[in-house]
Amino acid sequence: MSRKIIVLDTTLRDGEQVPGAKLNVQQKVEFAQQLKRLQVDIIEAGFPASSAGDFQAVQEIARSVGDTVSITALARAVKSDIDAVYNSIKLAQNPLIHIVLGTSDIHVDKKFNRSKDAVLEMGVEAVKYAKTLLPHVQYSTEDASRSEFEYLWKTIEAVVKAGATMINVPDTVGYAVPDEFGEMIRKLNERLKNLDDSVILSVHCHNDLGLATANTLAAVKNGADKVEVTINGLGERAGNTSLEEVIMALKVRENSFQCHTNIKTTELLRTSRLLTYLTGLDVQVNKAITGDNAFAHSSGIHQDGLLKDKQVYEIMSPEEVGAESMELILTARSGRHAFKNAVEKLGFDTSDAAEFEVLFDKFLTLADGKKEVYDHDVFYLVTNHRTLDVKDSHLYELDSFQVITNNQSPTATVSLKKGSETFVGSAVGDGPIDALYTVIKNLVGQDVHLKDYKINSLSRGKEAIGRVNIRIEYQGNIYSGRAMDTDIIKASALAFLNGINAALLDTAAQESPTPERSYS
Ligand code: KIV
Ligand code: ZN
Repeated sequence: MSRKIIVLDTTLRDGEQVPGAKLNVQQKVEFAQQLKRLQVDIIEAGFPASSAGDFQAVQEIARSVGDTVSITALARAVKSDIDAVYNSIKLAQNPLIHIVLGTSDIHVDKKFNRSKDAVLEMGVEAVKYAKTLLPHVQYSTEDASRSEFEYLWKTIEAVVKAGATMINVPDTVGYAVPDEFGEMIRKLNERLKNLDDSVILSVHCHNDLGLATANTLAAVKNGADKVEVTINGLGERAGNTSLEEVIMALKVRENSFQCHTNIKTTELLRTSRLLTYLTGLDVQVNKAITGDNAFAHSSGIHQDGLLKDKQVYEIMSPEEVGAESMELILTARSGRHAFKNAVEKLGFDTSDAAEFEVLFDKFLTLADGKKEVYDHDVFYLVTNHRTLDVKDSHLYELDSFQVITNNQSPTATVSLKKGSETFVGSAVGDGPIDALYTVIKNLVGQDVHLKDYKINSLSRGKEAIGRVNIRIEYQGNIYSGRAMDTDIIKASALAFLNGINAALLDTAAQESPTPERSYS
């Protein structure tokens, strides 16, 4: 019989730690709602002890999607972190406390400077404390793949006896190779099943050697019942195991793995695109499953074969991962019904009539400028509206702008609004965008540095929407901002302002109770 593999998505915790990928609370909730549609089993929503903003985001996610999806969040093996996790996830139907503590010599010596026995005891005490709060506790043996095996097992045995219900084995630095990692999981699984066969064995891999998917699959073959993954493989350094790769490997090669998951694969592409949009971090075009070219066939021999029978060159269909084969093209005359249909087909809820009217107005404006509106455009219109239209009197809004460019002194004049205040100014620059960004920087009076500016066009046609992604540095942190518009100068101004607003919001939320703010 096919074994069910539990899928924990950690995009909002491990993935979100990538510099510049920080999302605001509203964006995190929007993404968590999409993870729910994707039918992941567990969402790791954040690291609540790291900041007040993270705590609030985890709490909102527990409240808004924790009715059907299990919610977890990360704690170090200390009481205050465990309390923060408990208080942020307790409203979910099925909350899970996740505790992490290193087991490798290098972690024990360099991070804790304690004896191995003392570190093990810290873990046991943490689990015992967590169990007084909730029945489900996961324990992660950080840097397991570089740990001495017998000490790793001794730790697992002790924390299971203390009450841990899931054991997660991380390849924290992406050091493992599939045969070794698979063998380690086989041995741990054998001992764990003998100790207590109700405890779930899980793996969490990083991609430093490009082996995260291979290592995760090797672990599944050797008995792991749970995988920790992120959408697009997002994560620090080379990232985490990619959810879509593991899921489709298990599905397409079910004959080899004899396993299945609960994931609704037709939501994969949409989830990937939403994340790309929210973080501004693009997926490489040849990325398996979700890259733009993943299902494109350009060679004549392949195209000929495909026309005869798709299976000649396709091991899975684009439709299986959510790439629509039929697309309706909307115009300004399409009307409410057709627009509503398109929005719903993309998986968005349209039950809020007032919000739908605002979206419809935006659609008409877009259709007037762009003539033909594709699924792609509707998707960005809705996500843009739901995640970036935050009305907050502490944030800057673009009121009006004028940019004049030539080869001598490009000039920009901008008017910004913040609450009831208006700020107007002009500046010259090396080019139109430099002039625009210089005047905005002067008006907000903040020391921000532009680190990266990217523009590309969405969908097809000469009226295509321009999407601008920027990354800025502010007070030593990296923030990203993005915007889209048929006018690329306006999109550039909005993206820069969104980045500045994200930095200001984050700075305001950073009453960080602990110095450490990330965990890989
Ligand atoms: O990579 C890692 O070790 C982690 C743990 C917190 C599971 O992210
Ligand atoms: Zn990690």
